[in-house]
Amino acid sequence: MAKKSMTFTDNTTGKSYEYPVLDGTRGPSVVDIRTFYKDTGMFTYDPGFTSTASCESKITFIDGGKGELRYRGIPIEELAKNNTYLEVCYLLLNGRLPDRQEAEAFDLEIRHRSFVHEGLKNLIESFPSAAHPMAILSSSVSALASFYYEHLDINNEAEYQEMARRIIAKIPTLAAFAYRHSLGIPFIYPDISRSFTENFLYMMRAYPHERMKITPEGEQQVSQVEIDALDTIFTLHADHEQNASTTTVRGVASTGAHPYVAISAGISALWGRAHGGANESVIAQLEMIGDVKKVPEYIARAKDKNDPFRLMGFGHRVYKNFDPRAKVLKKLQDQLKEELHLDAKLLEIAHEIEQIALHDDYFVSRNLYPNIDFYSGVILYALKIPRPMFTPIFVIGRTVGWVAQWIEFKKDPASKIARPRQLYTGA
Ligand code: ACO
Repeated sequence: MAKKSMTFTDNTTGKSYEYPVLDGTRGPSVVDIRTFYKDTGMFTYDPGFTSTASCESKITFIDGGKGELRYRGIPIEELAKNNTYLEVCYLLLNGRLPDRQEAEAFDLEIRHRSFVHEGLKNLIESFPSAAHPMAILSSSVSALASFYYEHLDINNEAEYQEMARRIIAKIPTLAAFAYRHSLGIPFIYPDISRSFTENFLYMMRAYPHERMKITPEGEQQVSQVEIDALDTIFTLHADHEQNASTTTVRGVASTGAHPYVAISAGISALWGRAHGGANESVIAQLEMIGDVKKVPEYIARAKDKNDPFRLMGFGHRVYKNFDPRAKVLKKLQDQLKEELHLDAKLLEIAHEIEQIALHDDYFVSRNLYPNIDFYSGVILYALKIPRPMFTPIFVIGRTVGWVAQWIEFKKDPASKIARPRQLYTGA
């Protein structure tokens, strides 16, 4: 028996059962109830998994009370300041940051893998032009499974890692194609002379070279400030332990389905407003409020139990003090105010909401603080990224997290098919 344990006593039978308590390196311990049903004939009930650890993980650690987030042990603030997004990808996949040579080789490989099969281009062209880029992205990533079917039978490290690098490299291309399709404008192929983040902005904005020349001041120019800002946003989104979309990816992985199908399911899960879709909703909400004078009216609606209205970009299942990613972005927002000409009106409304909510008892007593999405929207807006592309930006950043978690799931001998039970109350 483990040193610490929890005893469960069934009052109807008077029988007692003991369950070991397992300690992690950090964070709450867990009660190992794997034999609970076999022992007692009962299930545990935990909708939304608020008290349930679904796996053991070594990738990301969050302390929601302290507002702490670490990838492979390194605080997010350090990574956002000192490392590129691709270095962070390497860290999440390999457990340590790359040295210079490794970073260069990784970067080069990602650049070369950024092209997609022409069949995928045709697939994207077949979607209605009004299609949301998230629908196109999820479908085209699922379709990738048919172009790289071999990844279904992988059982060695090199295969896992190739699968990971391939999807990380192709996601920005698919996202940019999805966007350009929605505008009915020609796709721009990746340019391997550009870095990961620059290339994405380029594929979103450039004119086809053969038709139009790039002028030095033209719209299609990408500034270093913009590249750095977006790179930081990717880093902040790279992983977030067992969130809803990652849980979806692990759930699909548990059935033995192709990894790209699992990632596609993660993209679908991320789309919702309670998750990654919130960044799009934040800007929509700020625009709907429209004037700083109207903020109190909407705060009152958010507090009204009979009104379904919620303040988008507020609250988090895990962070109950502050979201450390939001702190980094708030700082970035302040730095970029002048350089990127952040929308003054939207900023004013956002600031007013933030100030009222941070002092209002409704929000304070429920630990509702601005989350990452509250700040990312205004920055993405200033980067001239259209609103429907906000959640695809989240997808680009999060793909490495999903894939790292997929690999971890596959390697864990304790992994099992995800198959929860229920409390049946029907006829
Ligand atoms: N505005 C107003 N009230 C809120 C908000 C909000 N944004 N968020 C939570 N509440 C209230 C709830 O009504 C509830 O009140 P009650 O206790 O009186 O019933 C209480 O706060 C707790 O809320 P829950 O929904 O139970 O909290 P949960 O942990 O399940 O949900 C979630 C977290 C989904 C993020 C929620 O806060 C929300 O909907 N926020 C707005 C959407 C958003 O910003 N999503 C992005 C999340 S971050 C990310 O995915 C990157």
